[in-house]
Amino acid sequence: MAKDSSNGKIRNRLTAAARRAMKNAHAPYSKFKVGAALLTTTGKVFAGCNVENASYGMTNCAERTAIFTAVAQLGPKMEIRAIAITNNHDAPCSPCGACRQVIYEFGPEAMVFFRGKSGRDEELPITALLPEGFRLR
Ligand code: THU
Repeated sequence: MAKDSSNGKIRNRLTAAARRAMKNAHAPYSKFKVGAALLTTTGKVFAGCNVENASYGMTNCAERTAIFTAVAQLGPKMEIRAIAITNNHDAPCSPCGACRQVIYEFGPEAMVFFRGKSGRDEELPITALLPEGFRLR
């Protein structure tokens, strides 16, 4: 009960930050602007947008932009508590496989907020989206 309402507050806060960042997206090829915002375990918020390139494979997703920005500011011990993803079509949009692995690297217990394929808002731990994530030991 208490957990639900606090996750709801985190979701709203991160979704608002993701929407603001989404406006800065560079998405002239797909026209699909994405924003992401994460909350660290120390209470800081970082946001990012997708940055496309004429050489399509160079595209950076919004989630990785947000995560790499957080690492650049806080260093590699930065840990993700939660991350929210938004897009300018309000379309279903869960993190891509590559971003799931990057979220897992910095947030093995992270909660992920996104619009699911059903069209409903979903809230899943990264381990549900990426079972058996890779880790070097
Ligand atoms: N994209 C993201 O930024 N995050 C996602 O979770 C899914 C896809 C971007 C990559 C590309 O710029 C555009 O959306 C269309 O695939």
